Amino acid sequence: MATKTIQDVELHGKRAVIRVDFNVPLQDGEVTDNTRILGALPTIRRVIEQGGTAVLLSHLGRPKGEVNPKFSLESVGKALAEALGQPVVFIPESRGEAAEKAVAALSPGSVALLENVRFHPGEEKNDPELAKDFAKLGDLYVNDAFGTAHRAHASTAGIAEHLKPAVAGYLIQRELEFLGEKTESAEGPFVVILGGAKVSDKITVIDRLLEKADTILIGGAMAYTFALAQGKTVGDSLAEPDKMDTARAALKKAEERGVKFLLPVDNVIVDSIDFGNLSVGNVGSSDESGNIPDGWEGVDIGPKTVELYRSEIAEAKTILMNGPMGIFEIDACNKGTFAIAEAVAANKSALSIIGGGDSVKAVKQAGYGDEVSFISTGGGASLEFLEGKTLPGVAALDDN
Ligand code: 3PG
Repeated sequence: MATKTIQDVELHGKRAVIRVDFNVPLQDGEVTDNTRILGALPTIRRVIEQGGTAVLLSHLGRPKGEVNPKFSLESVGKALAEALGQPVVFIPESRGEAAEKAVAALSPGSVALLENVRFHPGEEKNDPELAKDFAKLGDLYVNDAFGTAHRAHASTAGIAEHLKPAVAGYLIQRELEFLGEKTESAEGPFVVILGGAKVSDKITVIDRLLEKADTILIGGAMAYTFALAQGKTVGDSLAEPDKMDTARAALKKAEERGVKFLLPVDNVIVDSIDFGNLSVGNVGSSDESGNIPDGWEGVDIGPKTVELYRSEIAEAKTILMNGPMGIFEIDACNKGTFAIAEAVAANKSALSIIGGGDSVKAVKQAGYGDEVSFISTGGGASLEFLEGKTLPGVAALDDN
């Protein structure tokens, strides 16, 4: 790896400031999905097992630079202690004398979690004074917050200028390996499953993956923009008529490069949706040619598309899934997404990578979270990385 890692540095007797991404979902003060906490454990364990002290910095939510108890990390500290199997000291501040004293009092082998870094307005502005104060908390910096690596903030980027060595933790290394190296030189057939609402959100990823994939399977609402581009009717479906040229350009590039670019051949359609109650009105199907009538909207890929996509997935040696096939949060619209998740999990001879955000939620909800090779902890970060962008949180670290 081009970046210096936690394996390259001395940790014994050192206080490591570890930036983690504990921006986890909470309900009534309980963590409802601890994937990001589990993802940080190998790095935390490495530090304490080597006789170091782990001082953790994270954000939670978007408190906009103000102290707001709703976004306190205290309950996350409890979930971390449970996952780690040892106490975690919660320090209710992340900068200043009190925080510095509290971390200095920690004994080797202990773990502390400091309060939300976004309670300081300087965090998101990458304020150098705040970065310097964060740097005073330890002897070296480890970034393991892959989910926030696309943000150039004081605790993800600025701090690395003031606290050396500045290295990558295990989670970031694994993310870069699976989303990067393993898709860069993927064993073929390399099948990419792309969903999501908008062509405009995903076009950079589509464009880049068209250079690597053998097959691309499209689902989600962005499929309706492709359908429009092919002269089909989409009724009241979410679509971007102004992005038809973009969709046509992607289809053309696929043809030129010999990439199999498959679009839904049928869709589940409904005549109304109530997002508040997660319910729909009447349910139907697009016609023989995949057209959707007025007054109806597409909400999922249909059974013929599932079969078509399933046969491609079964042949794959590498699979990357980014984005759901429909509105999987609603029961009547989740069959396509869940069937595709099942097909990915069923192909045990393929390396299967779930590329973050909603697709991770969907795969887990479908019950296949433990049956794929890799699940990314990044949402926006995974997308930007797959787009080929440099992640500031990685770029700030020392070169090897
Ligand atoms: C995420 O959940 O995607 C990361 O923690 C980043 O959060 P942000 O979008 O509020 O910067």
